[in-house]
Amino acid sequence: MPETGSSTGKLLLRALKGEKLAVPPIWLMRQAGRYLPEYRALRAKAPDFLTFCLTPELASEATLQPIRRFSFDAAIVFSDILVVPHVLGQRVEFREGEGPALAPLVDERDIGKLELARVAERTRPVQETLRQVRAALPREVALIGFAGAPWTVATYMIEGGSSRDFARTKRWAYADPRSFAALIDCLVSATTSYLLGQIEAGAEAIQLFDSWAGVLPETEFRRWIIEPTRRIASAIRARHPAVPLIGFPRGAGVLYETYAGAAGVDAVSLDSTVPLAWAREHVQTRRAVQGNLDPVLLLTGGSAMAVAARAIVTALRTGPFVFNLGHGILPETPPEHVTALVELVRGGSARA
Ligand code: CP3
Repeated sequence: MPETGSSTGKLLLRALKGEKLAVPPIWLMRQAGRYLPEYRALRAKAPDFLTFCLTPELASEATLQPIRRFSFDAAIVFSDILVVPHVLGQRVEFREGEGPALAPLVDERDIGKLELARVAERTRPVQETLRQVRAALPREVALIGFAGAPWTVATYMIEGGSSRDFARTKRWAYADPRSFAALIDCLVSATTSYLLGQIEAGAEAIQLFDSWAGVLPETEFRRWIIEPTRRIASAIRARHPAVPLIGFPRGAGVLYETYAGAAGVDAVSLDSTVPLAWAREHVQTRRAVQGNLDPVLLLTGGSAMAVAARAIVTALRTGPFVFNLGHGILPETPPEHVTALVELVRGGSARA
C-alpha cells in the first residue's frame, strides 16, 4: 500500500481494518496520565479533573505529551468515560486519591431525569480538543476517540463509583430488566451522539471501553454488552463506514470469541489474561486484535517485560495486530520503560 500520508496510510488504521503489517503499530491505554511528570504539572492548572477534561487547551496538551515523548502510532483524546454521566446531568466528582464518586441512580425516576438532549452541546469541549489535537499531530499519527461502553458506564452510575461485586447494578438488571434497559438505551443514544461528534471533530478510530464486561454471565453478556455495542457500531458505521471501531470487553474470557463475531466491531482489544494462541485462533481469525501486555510488566521493565512483549509480537503479528497493554498504564510506571517497550516492538530485537 502506498504511503500517501492520507488517513488510509496510517499504520494504526491499516491494522484495524485487517491488514497484516511487518512491524505492529503501538499505542498504550492511558498513555497520558500521572506517570508522566509533564502531565502532573499540567494537571495542577485545573481545579478538578472534570474541568481539566473539559478545557480543550489542557486536554489537547495532555493528549500530545505522550506522542512527543514516545512517538506512538496513535494519540487517544484526553478525557474520561465518566464525562458521559456528567453531561447527562448526574453529579460526578473525582476526589484526589479516591477515584470517582457519583450521586448514584436508585430507581427508574432517576433514569427519567437524565438529560439526553444536552449531550451534544455539553460535549463540545471534547470536540474542540480533538480539533486542536488533529491540527497539531504529525501526519503519520492517527487520532483515536473513545467512550465507555453502556454496561461499564451504567455500573459507575448505579454503584456511585468503583465496585467489588457490582451487586447493585446486577441486582437491578436481574430484578427489573425493563427499567435497566431504559438506562442502557439512554447510554446507547448518548454514546452514539458523543462518538459521532468526536468523529466529526477529527477522530479517525474509536475505542469503546467495557472495563467491567467480565462480571456478567453469558445471557446478560449478550444482552448488556454485545447488543448495546452492536447498536452503537451500526449507528456509527451508517454515517462513517471507514472509521474503525475497537471494542475492549475486558475480562470476557471465552466470550471474547462471541463478542468478536457479534458485537459489530472491527477490532478487539485483549486483556492480559487471554492466551495468545487461543486469541490467534478464536479472535484474530474474525477481527484485528490489540493487546495485551500486562501493565505490571511495563511497571517491572527489564527482561521480564522484554520476554513477554516479544512473545506477544511473535504470536500475533501473523495477522492484523496493534500492540497495546491489556489494561491502562499504572501511575507508578517509569517512563523509561515505555521508551524501551516502543523500541522493542519497533526494533529488530522484538522481531527475532
Ligand atoms: O488513555 C488515555 O490516555 C486517555 C485518557 C483516559 C482516562 N481515563 C484519563 C484518566 C481514558 C481512556 C480513561 C478511561 C477510563 N476512565 C476507564 C476505562 C479504562 C479502564 O481503566 O478500565 C475507566 C474505568 C475510567 C474511570 C476512571 N477515571 C477511574 C476509575 C478513575 C480513578 C482511578 C485512577 O486511575 O485515578 C479515573 C481518573 C482518571 N482518568 C485519571 C486519568 C489520567 C487520573 C485522575 C487524574 O489525573 O487526576
